[in-house]
Amino acid sequence: MTLETTLTRPAPVADWVTIADLHKNPFPIYRKLREEAPVHWVPEVGRFMVTSYEACHLIENDQDTFSANEAGSLMKRAMGHSMLRKDDPEHDVERKSYGSVLRPKAIKETWNAIFEQNSETFLARLKAAGPGADLIEEYAAPYAAENLRLIMGFHNATQEDMQRWSQTMINGTGNYADDPEVWAASKRSYDEVDDAIDEVLPYLLKNPDGSLLSGLASMPIPMEAIRANMKMTIGGGLNEPRDVIGVAVWALLSNPTQLEQVKADPARFAIAFEEAVRWVAPIGMYPREATKDTVLEGIRLPKGARLGVVIGAANRDPKIFADPDSFNINREKKPHLAFGGGNHFCAGTWVARASVATVALPQLFGQLPNLRLDPTREAVDAGWVFRGMTSLPVIWDK
Ligand code: HEM
Repeated sequence: MTLETTLTRPAPVADWVTIADLHKNPFPIYRKLREEAPVHWVPEVGRFMVTSYEACHLIENDQDTFSANEAGSLMKRAMGHSMLRKDDPEHDVERKSYGSVLRPKAIKETWNAIFEQNSETFLARLKAAGPGADLIEEYAAPYAAENLRLIMGFHNATQEDMQRWSQTMINGTGNYADDPEVWAASKRSYDEVDDAIDEVLPYLLKNPDGSLLSGLASMPIPMEAIRANMKMTIGGGLNEPRDVIGVAVWALLSNPTQLEQVKADPARFAIAFEEAVRWVAPIGMYPREATKDTVLEGIRLPKGARLGVVIGAANRDPKIFADPDSFNINREKKPHLAFGGGNHFCAGTWVARASVATVALPQLFGQLPNLRLDPTREAVDAGWVFRGMTSLPVIWDK
Protein backbone atom coordinates (compact mmCIF):
# COMPACT_ATOMS: atom_id res chain seq x y z
CA MET A 1 0.00 0.00 0.00
CA THR A 2 1.29 3.49 -0.82
CA LEU A 3 1.20 6.28 1.75
CA GLU A 4 -1.50 7.95 -0.31
CA THR A 5 -3.88 4.98 -0.24
CA THR A 6 -3.42 4.61 3.53
CA LEU A 7 -4.26 8.26 4.22
CA THR A 8 -7.15 8.44 1.79
CA ARG A 9 -10.32 6.42 1.27
CA PRO A 10 -12.89 5.82 -1.45
CA ALA A 11 -16.17 7.73 -1.21
CA PRO A 12 -18.70 5.97 1.03
CA VAL A 13 -21.85 4.88 -0.83
CA ALA A 14 -25.12 6.50 0.30
CA ASP A 15 -27.66 4.11 -1.22
CA TRP A 16 -30.31 5.25 1.30
CA VAL A 17 -30.63 8.71 -0.28
CA THR A 18 -33.66 9.11 -2.55
CA ILE A 19 -34.53 11.98 -4.88
CA ALA A 20 -38.08 12.05 -3.45
CA ASP A 21 -36.72 12.62 0.08
CA LEU A 22 -34.25 15.25 -1.16
CA HIS A 23 -37.10 17.08 -2.87
CA LYS A 24 -39.21 17.15 0.28
CA ASN A 25 -36.52 18.22 2.75
CA PRO A 26 -32.83 17.72 1.92
CA PHE A 27 -31.38 19.23 5.10
CA PRO A 28 -31.54 16.22 7.50
CA ILE A 29 -30.02 14.13 4.68
CA TYR A 30 -27.20 16.64 4.16
CA ARG A 31 -26.49 16.64 7.91
CA LYS A 32 -26.24 12.85 8.04
CA LEU A 33 -24.00 12.75 4.95
CA ARG A 34 -21.71 15.53 6.19
CA GLU A 35 -21.31 13.90 9.59
CA GLU A 36 -20.02 10.73 7.87
CA ALA A 37 -17.81 12.18 5.10
CA PRO A 38 -17.45 15.30 2.94
CA VAL A 39 -18.14 13.33 -0.28
CA HIS A 40 -20.40 10.32 -1.04
CA TRP A 41 -21.30 8.33 -4.11
CA VAL A 42 -25.10 8.62 -4.30
CA PRO A 43 -26.43 5.98 -6.74
CA GLU A 44 -29.92 7.45 -7.16
CA VAL A 45 -28.48 10.86 -8.08
CA GLY A 46 -25.70 9.33 -10.21
CA ARG A 47 -23.13 11.71 -8.74
CA PHE A 48 -20.56 12.12 -6.02
CA MET A 49 -22.36 14.56 -3.73
CA VAL A 50 -20.04 17.03 -2.00
CA THR A 51 -21.60 18.38 1.20
CA SER A 52 -18.87 20.03 3.33
CA TYR A 53 -18.17 23.77 3.06
CA GLU A 54 -14.44 23.23 2.71
CA ALA A 55 -14.76 20.69 -0.13
CA CYS A 56 -17.29 22.82 -2.08
CA HIS A 57 -15.03 25.85 -1.66
CA LEU A 58 -11.97 23.91 -2.90
CA ILE A 59 -13.85 22.79 -6.03
CA GLU A 60 -15.03 26.31 -6.88
CA ASN A 61 -11.47 27.57 -6.91
CA ASP A 62 -9.83 24.76 -8.91
CA GLN A 63 -11.22 24.61 -12.43
CA ASP A 64 -8.14 22.69 -13.66
CA THR A 65 -9.19 19.67 -11.56
CA PHE A 66 -12.95 20.28 -11.46
CA SER A 67 -14.24 21.31 -14.86
CA ALA A 68 -17.59 23.00 -15.50
CA ASN A 69 -17.57 21.48 -19.01
CA GLU A 70 -19.33 18.28 -18.05
CA ALA A 71 -19.64 15.54 -20.70
CA GLY A 72 -23.24 14.56 -21.51
CA SER A 73 -24.61 17.65 -19.74
CA LEU A 74 -28.41 17.87 -19.99
CA MET A 75 -28.09 21.63 -19.64
CA LYS A 76 -26.17 21.78 -22.92
CA ARG A 77 -29.01 19.90 -24.62
CA ALA A 78 -31.73 22.06 -23.04
CA MET A 79 -30.08 25.48 -23.41
CA GLY A 80 -27.02 25.11 -25.66
CA HIS A 81 -23.38 25.34 -24.55
CA SER A 82 -23.30 28.46 -22.35
CA MET A 83 -20.44 30.05 -20.40
CA LEU A 84 -21.68 28.21 -17.29
CA ARG A 85 -20.47 24.92 -18.83
CA LYS A 86 -17.12 26.28 -20.07
CA ASP A 87 -13.77 26.75 -18.35
CA ASP A 88 -11.37 29.66 -18.77
CA PRO A 89 -10.10 31.06 -21.06
CA GLU A 90 -13.24 30.34 -23.22
CA HIS A 91 -15.57 31.11 -20.30
CA ASP A 92 -13.82 34.39 -19.51
CA VAL A 93 -14.37 35.86 -23.01
CA GLU A 94 -18.11 35.25 -22.79
CA ARG A 95 -18.39 36.41 -19.19
CA LYS A 96 -16.71 39.70 -20.19
CA SER A 97 -19.22 40.07 -23.04
CA TYR A 98 -21.87 40.88 -20.37
CA GLY A 99 -19.93 44.13 -19.74
CA SER A 100 -21.25 46.28 -16.93
CA VAL A 101 -25.00 45.67 -17.47
CA LEU A 102 -25.45 43.70 -14.23
CA ARG A 103 -22.96 45.70 -12.14
CA PRO A 104 -23.68 48.12 -9.25
CA LYS A 105 -23.24 51.34 -11.30
CA ALA A 106 -25.84 50.30 -13.90
CA ILE A 107 -28.16 49.13 -11.14
CA LYS A 108 -27.92 52.51 -9.42
CA GLU A 109 -28.28 54.54 -12.61
CA THR A 110 -30.84 52.43 -14.51
CA TRP A 111 -32.27 49.33 -12.91
CA ASN A 112 -33.25 50.41 -9.38
CA ALA A 113 -35.94 52.78 -10.68
CA ILE A 114 -37.26 50.02 -12.96
CA PHE A 115 -37.32 47.50 -10.10
CA GLU A 116 -39.28 49.98 -7.97
CA GLN A 117 -41.82 50.54 -10.71
CA ASN A 118 -42.20 46.80 -11.37
CA SER A 119 -42.60 46.10 -7.67
CA GLU A 120 -45.40 48.70 -7.47
CA THR A 121 -47.13 47.07 -10.45
CA PHE A 122 -47.15 43.58 -8.96
CA LEU A 123 -47.92 44.79 -5.43
CA ALA A 124 -51.04 46.34 -6.94
CA ARG A 125 -51.83 42.94 -8.47
CA LEU A 126 -51.32 41.21 -5.09
CA LYS A 127 -53.51 43.80 -3.34
CA ALA A 128 -56.20 43.33 -5.97
CA ALA A 129 -56.14 39.57 -5.42
CA GLY A 130 -56.74 40.35 -1.73
CA PRO A 131 -55.75 38.75 1.57
CA GLY A 132 -55.32 34.99 1.16
CA ALA A 133 -53.53 35.44 -2.18
CA ASP A 134 -50.37 33.50 -3.00
CA LEU A 135 -47.40 35.86 -2.72
CA ILE A 136 -45.32 33.80 -5.17
CA GLU A 137 -47.90 33.65 -7.94
CA GLU A 138 -49.23 37.20 -7.66
CA TYR A 139 -46.01 39.04 -6.82
CA ALA A 140 -42.62 37.26 -6.59
CA ALA A 141 -42.72 35.30 -9.86
CA PRO A 142 -44.05 38.02 -12.19
CA TYR A 143 -41.86 40.67 -10.50
CA ALA A 144 -38.68 38.60 -10.99
CA ALA A 145 -39.69 37.75 -14.57
CA GLU A 146 -40.46 41.35 -15.57
CA ASN A 147 -37.18 42.62 -14.09
CA LEU A 148 -35.21 39.98 -16.01
CA ARG A 149 -37.12 40.65 -19.25
CA LEU A 150 -36.09 44.31 -19.19
CA ILE A 151 -32.51 43.66 -18.04
CA MET A 152 -32.06 41.19 -20.90
CA GLY A 153 -33.77 43.41 -23.49
CA PHE A 154 -36.61 41.07 -24.57
CA HIS A 155 -38.86 43.94 -25.68
CA ASN A 156 -40.76 41.54 -27.90
CA ALA A 157 -41.77 39.12 -25.10
CA THR A 158 -43.93 39.20 -21.97
CA GLN A 159 -43.11 38.30 -18.39
CA GLU A 160 -45.35 35.24 -18.86
CA ASP A 161 -43.13 34.16 -21.81
CA MET A 162 -40.08 34.54 -19.56
CA GLN A 163 -41.66 32.36 -16.87
CA ARG A 164 -42.63 29.65 -19.38
CA TRP A 165 -39.22 29.67 -21.08
CA SER A 166 -37.39 29.52 -17.77
CA GLN A 167 -39.42 26.67 -16.27
CA THR A 168 -39.56 24.45 -19.37
CA MET A 169 -35.83 24.74 -20.09
CA ILE A 170 -34.99 24.12 -16.40
CA ASN A 171 -37.20 21.04 -16.58
CA GLY A 172 -35.12 19.93 -19.60
CA THR A 173 -31.90 20.49 -17.64
CA GLY A 174 -33.23 18.14 -14.94
CA ASN A 175 -34.82 15.60 -17.33
CA TYR A 176 -32.83 12.59 -16.10
CA ALA A 177 -35.88 10.39 -16.79
CA ASP A 178 -35.59 11.36 -20.51
CA ASP A 179 -39.33 12.14 -20.68
CA PRO A 180 -40.09 13.05 -24.35
CA GLU A 181 -42.83 15.51 -23.35
CA VAL A 182 -40.39 17.42 -21.14
CA TRP A 183 -37.90 17.58 -24.04
CA ALA A 184 -40.62 18.73 -26.44
CA ALA A 185 -41.68 21.63 -24.17
CA SER A 186 -38.05 22.56 -23.55
CA LYS A 187 -37.29 22.53 -27.30
CA ARG A 188 -40.33 24.73 -28.02
CA SER A 189 -38.97 27.33 -25.61
CA TYR A 190 -35.46 26.94 -27.05
CA ASP A 191 -36.82 27.78 -30.52
CA GLU A 192 -39.01 30.62 -29.23
CA VAL A 193 -36.03 32.24 -27.48
CA ASP A 194 -33.91 31.96 -30.65
CA ASP A 195 -36.70 33.56 -32.69
CA ALA A 196 -37.12 36.36 -30.13
CA ILE A 197 -33.35 37.06 -30.20
CA ASP A 198 -33.30 37.14 -34.01
CA GLU A 199 -36.17 39.59 -34.01
CA VAL A 200 -34.97 41.94 -31.27
CA LEU A 201 -31.23 42.23 -32.11
CA PRO A 202 -31.71 44.40 -35.27
CA TYR A 203 -34.12 46.61 -33.28
CA LEU A 204 -31.57 47.01 -30.46
CA LEU A 205 -28.78 47.83 -32.92
CA LYS A 206 -30.90 50.78 -34.11
CA ASN A 207 -32.31 51.62 -30.65
CA PRO A 208 -29.58 50.77 -28.15
CA ASP A 209 -30.42 50.69 -24.45
CA GLY A 210 -28.73 49.44 -21.28
CA SER A 211 -29.85 45.81 -21.70
CA LEU A 212 -27.72 42.68 -22.07
CA LEU A 213 -28.91 41.96 -25.62
CA SER A 214 -28.25 45.56 -26.64
CA GLY A 215 -24.65 45.25 -25.44
CA LEU A 216 -24.22 41.86 -27.09
CA ALA A 217 -25.62 43.10 -30.43
CA SER A 218 -22.31 44.85 -31.16
CA MET A 219 -19.96 42.27 -29.55
CA PRO A 220 -17.67 39.96 -31.52
CA ILE A 221 -19.23 36.89 -29.87
CA PRO A 222 -20.54 34.02 -32.03
CA MET A 223 -24.35 33.93 -32.30
CA GLU A 224 -24.37 30.38 -30.98
CA ALA A 225 -22.75 31.54 -27.72
CA ILE A 226 -25.11 34.54 -27.40
CA ARG A 227 -28.11 32.24 -27.83
CA ALA A 228 -26.85 29.75 -25.22
CA ASN A 229 -25.90 32.44 -22.70
CA MET A 230 -29.30 34.11 -23.03
CA LYS A 231 -31.08 30.79 -22.37
CA MET A 232 -28.85 30.05 -19.37
CA THR A 233 -29.52 33.54 -17.99
CA ILE A 234 -33.28 33.12 -18.41
CA GLY A 235 -32.96 29.84 -16.49
CA GLY A 236 -30.61 31.26 -13.86
CA GLY A 237 -31.92 34.78 -13.32
CA LEU A 238 -35.64 34.33 -12.69
CA ASN A 239 -36.40 31.52 -10.24
CA GLU A 240 -33.66 32.50 -7.80
CA PRO A 241 -34.81 36.06 -6.99
CA ARG A 242 -38.38 34.70 -6.91
CA ASP A 243 -37.37 31.97 -4.47
CA VAL A 244 -35.36 34.21 -2.16
CA ILE A 245 -38.28 36.65 -1.90
CA GLY A 246 -40.52 33.74 -0.86
CA VAL A 247 -38.07 32.23 1.61
CA ALA A 248 -37.14 35.61 3.17
CA VAL A 249 -40.80 36.61 3.66
CA TRP A 250 -41.67 33.17 5.07
CA ALA A 251 -38.68 33.22 7.44
CA LEU A 252 -39.38 36.75 8.71
CA LEU A 253 -43.09 36.06 9.18
CA SER A 254 -42.21 32.91 11.13
CA ASN A 255 -39.74 34.81 13.38
CA PRO A 256 -41.64 37.87 14.71
CA THR A 257 -38.78 39.19 16.88
CA GLN A 258 -36.45 39.30 13.88
CA LEU A 259 -39.21 40.89 11.78
CA GLU A 260 -39.54 43.66 14.37
CA GLN A 261 -35.77 44.24 14.26
CA VAL A 262 -35.86 44.56 10.46
CA LYS A 263 -38.88 46.86 10.46
CA ALA A 264 -37.17 49.10 13.06
CA ASP A 265 -34.06 49.36 10.88
CA PRO A 266 -34.76 48.70 7.17
CA ALA A 267 -31.00 48.57 6.48
CA ARG A 268 -31.32 45.07 7.96
CA PHE A 269 -33.30 43.84 4.95
CA ALA A 270 -29.88 43.35 3.33
CA ILE A 271 -28.86 41.09 6.22
CA ALA A 272 -32.15 39.19 6.03
CA PHE A 273 -31.53 38.64 2.30
CA GLU A 274 -28.03 37.17 2.87
CA GLU A 275 -29.32 34.99 5.71
CA ALA A 276 -32.22 33.75 3.56
CA VAL A 277 -29.90 32.62 0.72
CA ARG A 278 -27.53 31.02 3.25
CA TRP A 279 -30.37 29.21 5.01
CA VAL A 280 -32.04 27.96 1.81
CA ALA A 281 -29.69 28.32 -1.16
CA PRO A 282 -31.96 28.91 -4.21
CA ILE A 283 -29.49 26.87 -6.32
CA GLY A 284 -28.80 23.96 -4.02
CA MET A 285 -26.46 21.94 -6.24
CA TYR A 286 -24.51 22.42 -9.45
CA PRO A 287 -22.32 20.00 -11.42
CA ARG A 288 -18.58 19.66 -12.00
CA GLU A 289 -16.43 16.87 -13.49
CA ALA A 290 -13.01 15.64 -12.30
CA THR A 291 -10.43 16.08 -15.08
CA LYS A 292 -7.97 13.63 -13.45
CA ASP A 293 -7.68 11.15 -10.59
CA THR A 294 -7.70 13.32 -7.49
CA VAL A 295 -8.24 13.43 -3.73
CA LEU A 296 -10.79 15.78 -2.19
CA GLU A 297 -10.60 16.20 1.58
CA GLY A 298 -9.23 12.66 1.90
CA ILE A 299 -11.73 11.06 -0.54
CA ARG A 300 -10.33 9.50 -3.75
CA LEU A 301 -12.13 10.50 -6.94
CA PRO A 302 -11.47 8.95 -10.36
CA LYS A 303 -10.91 10.93 -13.56
CA GLY A 304 -14.32 11.65 -15.13
CA ALA A 305 -16.15 11.55 -11.77
CA ARG A 306 -19.39 13.50 -12.00
CA LEU A 307 -19.76 15.70 -8.93
CA GLY A 308 -22.70 17.53 -7.39
CA VAL A 309 -21.40 20.60 -5.53
CA VAL A 310 -24.10 20.87 -2.86
CA ILE A 311 -23.85 24.50 -1.77
CA GLY A 312 -27.23 24.08 -0.04
CA ALA A 313 -25.42 21.69 2.33
CA ALA A 314 -22.18 23.71 2.57
CA ASN A 315 -24.23 26.71 3.76
CA ARG A 316 -25.35 24.67 6.77
CA ASP A 317 -21.95 23.21 7.68
CA PRO A 318 -21.67 23.57 11.48
CA LYS A 319 -17.88 23.94 11.15
CA ILE A 320 -18.60 27.39 9.67
CA PHE A 321 -22.08 28.38 10.84
CA ALA A 322 -23.18 27.94 14.48
CA ASP A 323 -26.69 26.46 14.86
CA PRO A 324 -26.87 26.25 11.04
CA ASP A 325 -30.48 25.11 10.70
CA SER A 326 -31.89 28.28 12.30
CA PHE A 327 -32.73 31.40 10.35
CA ASN A 328 -30.96 34.08 12.36
CA ILE A 329 -30.24 37.58 11.08
CA ASN A 330 -28.10 38.21 14.17
CA ARG A 331 -25.60 35.43 13.47
CA GLU A 332 -21.89 36.19 13.09
CA LYS A 333 -21.18 37.34 9.52
CA LYS A 334 -19.39 34.63 7.49
CA PRO A 335 -19.20 34.21 3.70
CA HIS A 336 -21.88 31.81 2.39
CA LEU A 337 -21.66 29.96 -0.94
CA ALA A 338 -25.17 30.66 -2.31
CA PHE A 339 -23.78 32.65 -5.25
CA GLY A 340 -21.07 30.08 -6.00
CA GLY A 341 -17.46 31.21 -6.16
CA GLY A 342 -14.33 31.30 -8.31
CA ASN A 343 -14.66 32.14 -12.01
CA HIS A 344 -18.40 31.28 -12.23
CA PHE A 345 -19.39 33.46 -9.26
CA CYS A 346 -22.95 34.56 -10.02
CA ALA A 347 -23.00 37.45 -12.49
CA GLY A 348 -26.43 38.53 -11.19
CA THR A 349 -25.53 38.87 -7.48
CA TRP A 350 -25.96 42.66 -7.44
CA VAL A 351 -29.22 42.49 -9.41
CA ALA A 352 -30.56 39.96 -6.91
CA ARG A 353 -29.49 42.05 -3.89
CA ALA A 354 -30.95 45.26 -5.29
CA SER A 355 -34.22 43.83 -6.61
CA VAL A 356 -34.94 41.78 -3.47
CA ALA A 357 -33.26 43.49 -0.49
CA THR A 358 -33.43 47.12 -1.59
CA VAL A 359 -36.81 47.07 -3.35
CA ALA A 360 -39.08 44.02 -2.88
CA LEU A 361 -38.79 43.30 0.85
CA PRO A 362 -39.09 46.93 2.07
CA GLN A 363 -42.06 47.54 -0.28
CA LEU A 364 -43.88 44.35 0.76
CA PHE A 365 -43.51 44.97 4.49
CA GLY A 366 -44.00 48.73 4.09
CA GLN A 367 -47.19 48.58 2.01
CA LEU A 368 -49.06 45.55 3.38
CA PRO A 369 -50.04 46.47 6.95
CA ASN A 370 -49.54 43.65 9.45
CA LEU A 371 -48.52 41.20 6.70
CA ARG A 372 -48.71 37.64 8.09
CA LEU A 373 -49.00 33.99 7.08
CA ASP A 374 -52.50 32.79 6.24
CA PRO A 375 -53.34 30.55 9.22
CA THR A 376 -55.89 28.56 7.18
CA ARG A 377 -53.49 27.38 4.45
CA GLU A 378 -50.01 25.93 4.61
CA ALA A 379 -46.88 27.58 3.23
CA VAL A 380 -44.93 24.94 1.28
CA ASP A 381 -41.20 24.83 0.53
CA ALA A 382 -39.77 22.19 -1.80
CA GLY A 383 -36.86 21.20 -4.04
CA TRP A 384 -33.15 20.55 -3.66
CA VAL A 385 -31.36 21.35 -6.97
CA PHE A 386 -33.52 24.47 -6.90
CA ARG A 387 -35.38 25.17 -3.66
CA GLY A 388 -38.00 27.75 -2.77
CA MET A 389 -41.61 28.28 -1.74
CA THR A 390 -44.09 26.53 -4.02
CA SER A 391 -46.95 28.18 -2.16
CA LEU A 392 -47.03 31.15 0.23
CA PRO A 393 -50.58 32.29 1.08
CA VAL A 394 -50.51 35.55 3.05
CA ILE A 395 -53.01 37.91 4.65
CA TRP A 396 -52.78 41.57 5.74
CA ASP A 397 -55.01 44.32 7.15
CA LYS A 398 -56.76 46.32 4.45
C1 HEM B 1 -30.66 35.05 -5.30
C2 HEM B 1 -30.48 35.00 -6.59
C3 HEM B 1 -29.41 34.20 -7.30
C4 HEM B 1 -28.65 33.13 -6.85
C5 HEM B 1 -28.72 32.46 -5.48
C6 HEM B 1 -27.76 32.75 -7.94
C7 HEM B 1 -26.83 31.72 -7.86
C8 HEM B 1 -25.88 31.42 -8.85
C9 HEM B 1 -24.87 30.40 -8.74
C10 HEM B 1 -24.70 29.45 -7.56
C11 HEM B 1 -24.14 30.43 -9.90
C12 HEM B 1 -22.91 29.54 -10.22
C13 HEM B 1 -23.33 28.19 -10.73
C14 HEM B 1 -22.13 27.33 -11.14
O1 HEM B 1 -20.98 27.67 -10.83
O2 HEM B 1 -22.35 26.29 -11.81
C15 HEM B 1 -24.68 31.47 -10.73
C16 HEM B 1 -24.18 31.81 -11.97
C17 HEM B 1 -24.77 32.77 -12.78
N1 HEM B 1 -25.83 33.59 -12.48
FE1 HEM B 1 -26.85 33.65 -10.70
N2 HEM B 1 -27.99 33.57 -9.01
C18 HEM B 1 -28.97 34.48 -8.66
C19 HEM B 1 -29.50 35.49 -9.46
C20 HEM B 1 -29.08 35.78 -10.73
C21 HEM B 1 -29.64 36.81 -11.57
C22 HEM B 1 -30.76 37.77 -11.15
C23 HEM B 1 -28.98 36.76 -12.78
C24 HEM B 1 -29.15 37.61 -14.01
C25 HEM B 1 -29.70 38.79 -14.04
C26 HEM B 1 -27.98 35.69 -12.67
C27 HEM B 1 -27.10 35.35 -13.68
C28 HEM B 1 -26.10 34.40 -13.56
C29 HEM B 1 -25.14 34.10 -14.62
C30 HEM B 1 -25.08 34.77 -16.00
C31 HEM B 1 -24.31 33.08 -14.14
C32 HEM B 1 -23.15 32.40 -14.89
C33 HEM B 1 -21.85 33.02 -14.47
C34 HEM B 1 -20.64 32.38 -15.12
O3 HEM B 1 -20.71 31.26 -15.64
O4 HEM B 1 -19.58 33.03 -15.12
N3 HEM B 1 -28.08 35.12 -11.44
N4 HEM B 1 -25.74 32.07 -10.08
